Amino acid sequence: MKTPVAVLLSGSGSNLQAMIDKVQAGVIEADIRLVLSNRADAFGLTRAAKRGIPTAVVEHGAYPCREAFDAALLAAIAKSGARVVVLAGFMRILGPEIVSAFAGRMLNIHPALLPSFPGVHGQPDAARHGVKISGCTVHFVDEKMDHGPIVIQAAVPALADDDGKALGARILALEHRIYPQAVHWLCTGRLHVRGRHVHLDPADVPPADMAGAGPCLVNPPLEQGF
Ligand code: GRF
Repeated sequence: MKTPVAVLLSGSGSNLQAMIDKVQAGVIEADIRLVLSNRADAFGLTRAAKRGIPTAVVEHGAYPCREAFDAALLAAIAKSGARVVVLAGFMRILGPEIVSAFAGRMLNIHPALLPSFPGVHGQPDAARHGVKISGCTVHFVDEKMDHGPIVIQAAVPALADDDGKALGARILALEHRIYPQAVHWLCTGRLHVRGRHVHLDPADVPPADMAGAGPCLVNPPLEQGF
């Protein structure tokens, strides 16, 4: 049976779209049962509806406190039957109750190489800092923001002229590849968390081009002879 999944988002939903496409292509072993947003105007809801996926809106402003908002989220997720929760640009911090209810079953994606540049401005912060390499990180959700055990990361070059938008576009293209992969691994029971370390089953091995050869992304690239 395919794992029932709920996707939570607040905005465009391009990561949701990447997942829907992979589910419909039969590449991800998941059944997206619900797309839930805290904003009624999130374009991600339209993307879901277009593909016949049930949607729900739980507006944070409609609840007196975070506990009540979280309880409403939990109720909507429970009603959908989802066993896995995927945060895809969900711009609210979740409280301990919902985090513990889905411990080891909730993922988030962050547009920087954690633990660098956590928070809501990952791409512009990295661009402003002048890093030469940035990227994206899929991690399990724990009680601290952008903090849980890391499942997968992908790196992209950051260029001296980049602003957050240019760097962010390069990162987003990779988000669309690594997030569906991570969701597939989780849904097929291949991720095992031991402390801060996430083990991929069967055992993860270094990529072929890295075996003994050192780093595979150097930016700016090395010149001939180095
Ligand atoms: C992405 O940059 C993701 O890393 C961050 O929120 C953004 C969501 O983008 N958590 P989209 O709504 O999937 O297009």
